[in-house]
Amino acid sequence: MNTMTSENSLARRFPEDFIWGVATSSFQIEGAAQEDGKGESIWDRFCRQPGAIADHSNGDVACDHYHRLDSDLDLIASLGVNAYRFSVSWPRVQPTGSGAWNEAGLAFYERLVDGLLARGIKPHLTLNHWDLPQALQDQGGWNARETVDHFVEYALGMYRRLGSRLAAITTHNEPWVVAVLGHEQGIFAPGIKSRKVTLQVAHHLLLSHGKAVQALRKEGCKVPLGIVLNLSPIEPASDSAEDRASAIKADAAGRRWYADPLFKGSYPAEVWADMGDDVPTVLPGDMDIIATPIDYLGVNYYTRQVVGASGHVDTKTSGLPLTEMGWEIYAKGLTDLLLLLHRDYALPAVLITENGGAFKDPVINGQVNDADRVDYLRTHISAMADAMDQGVPMAGYMVWSLMDNFEWASGYAKRFGIVHVDYETLKRTPKQSAHWYRDFLDCVRAIQKTPRRA
Ligand code: FCB
Repeated sequence: MNTMTSENSLARRFPEDFIWGVATSSFQIEGAAQEDGKGESIWDRFCRQPGAIADHSNGDVACDHYHRLDSDLDLIASLGVNAYRFSVSWPRVQPTGSGAWNEAGLAFYERLVDGLLARGIKPHLTLNHWDLPQALQDQGGWNARETVDHFVEYALGMYRRLGSRLAAITTHNEPWVVAVLGHEQGIFAPGIKSRKVTLQVAHHLLLSHGKAVQALRKEGCKVPLGIVLNLSPIEPASDSAEDRASAIKADAAGRRWYADPLFKGSYPAEVWADMGDDVPTVLPGDMDIIATPIDYLGVNYYTRQVVGASGHVDTKTSGLPLTEMGWEIYAKGLTDLLLLLHRDYALPAVLITENGGAFKDPVINGQVNDADRVDYLRTHISAMADAMDQGVPMAGYMVWSLMDNFEWASGYAKRFGIVHVDYETLKRTPKQSAHWYRDFLDCVRAIQKTPRRA
């Protein structure tokens, strides 16, 4: 099959109203960390801890998106996407996380949203992609129940300003990462290492999600509301009873600890029983609030996990190709994951809110021929279509990421963009994958315009 035919047949598998986008987050691209009244975030602070970031970098400049908004909007439009997923830096709009608002910060996001709409692109806003105001961390951060109320106030403030111009509002991005990497492993901000704190943080994130959804709806918000989880199917290392039991347990502690409360209103009992004194304080009514129905679930998928009786198995030696993160490329895992979610829960619309890979991406003669990323995207989009064919209510797909950016503890060394960023000059160069995505979306549109035979 030649490439055009295969892209055409892939494009044919999607309905007309499917959402196609690219995703970013505030801290990873904006820069302007100390400008126009922005407050400090926990990631600004964390980057200053010696050894926290692999290349000793920080988000002070990042992709300088804050100062390049208009040309970046043109860049997004040039890809032919119909949606853009971005996040708001809470300390940019509310420097201390409560009380006074920062007009310059609000105006920036207003320009972003209006700029997207003017280009025919749907704004998908995420409230928390990890850059909590440091002032709130100083009062206990997500471990403190008061932060839940501050988050609701922030959500309402953003809605009041941007309102029905938004196409979607996501409360949190990947609560598991905030809780576990930030508070158990301590490798992400705020760099705490305590399982007890981790579980309380996870509970407060979920609770603040539910409370924000309720408060927004009470305010009259008709914008679709959802949350984004990072999920992987967990496979047993072998068919042995021990390995299978361990995989089921790991799935309950990871995926189900977050998804069960949202869709069933309870934590998995077997994991709760294992946590001893570390279980979170849950007040009466909390679980019902968390289970408030949502309009969509966002799923971030990168790779599968394999678990055996002695714990996680390193998939680096599985023989399958790896990305630069050392993550195994396993597209079928996306189908498996979506079917698993569909089996376990009465799902609302599902969006793949992040999917993509880091690759070496050398610039040669002004071009980046990232054939490995093109292949990654094509196979994963196809894997998503396989799940859709089997009844999963898929509504959209977003590539991570629009452009190379600050990859958290890995700094700028890992490049996930379909657009290359030269960090010396900040020049953006669309990679081959950006051209491929644009051509694929052209195919999608062309097919939609062709009258179908009866
Ligand atoms: C996800 C994050 C995103 C990006 C990708 C690679 O966990 O949501 O910001 O770092 O991983």
